[in-house]
Amino acid sequence: MSSAPVVRHLPPVVPPTGTAPDDIGTGHPMREITELLAADPGAWTPSLAVHVAGFFDELAPGWGQDRSARSEVLVDALDRGLPAEVREPVLELGAGTGAGTRALVDRFDRVVAADLSTEMLVRLEAPDASRVLADARRLPVPDAAVGLLVAVNMFLFADEVRRVLSADGAFVWVNSIGERTPIHLPADRVVEALGDGFSGVASSSGWGTWCVARRVSGDD
Ligand SMILES: C[S@@+](CC[C@H](N)C(=O)[O-])C[C@H]1O[C@@H](n2cnc3c(N)ncnc32)[C@H](O)[C@@H]1O
Repeated sequence: MSSAPVVRHLPPVVPPTGTAPDDIGTGHPMREITELLAADPGAWTPSLAVHVAGFFDELAPGWGQDRSARSEVLVDALDRGLPAEVREPVLELGAGTGAGTRALVDRFDRVVAADLSTEMLVRLEAPDASRVLADARRLPVPDAAVGLLVAVNMFLFADEVRRVLSADGAFVWVNSIGERTPIHLPADRVVEALGDGFSGVASSSGWGTWCVARRVSGDD
């Protein structure tokens, strides 16, 4: 029998300011895909992968002008959500042009940025990160090889997260404008999708939301 996911919600340290961002998430075609994959990662077919890669290839030239909000939410998640000891390497899924990657290389030595879109990856602005063209549904990574897995506004492939994450590893999920983000899932859905044995800590920063999920250990 599966038990309910355990997510501890922390009060925000950085409150939202200014006008709320437009809700560009509700009804967005990428939201539909996000929901589909959260329920069943097997719904990711080769033709869907080609469609999504093409979609982001087209957006890539205009991507990444003002993406500071993304890294601010990620930094809050890293500051408040991570265990004291984090093992490397760090793998970022759907890194895009590197808005989150830069925050990762600022604090970790071995960071790999993965993306499905060639046009995003060639524009990745994080010289200290290795980059790999890869599909997060089938990562070219051995089992339990990753200490920290990061997804900023990226689809959830829960079975692959479980496979590559080390026993004491952490998975960071960020939605830069919270539920208004096209690729959004609430923290409870993320932890629920990861399945039995995972728990999470979640909060918000500005208009963004984050969750850090880990396997429950005997110390918890
Ligand atoms: C909404 S963008 C976010 C990019 C970046 N994380 C940011 O916040 O600026 C989603 C990114 O995920 C990538 N992506 C989508 N599906 C993917 C998959 N199956 N494997 C790897 N990357 C994928 C897209 O190419 C795109 O770069």
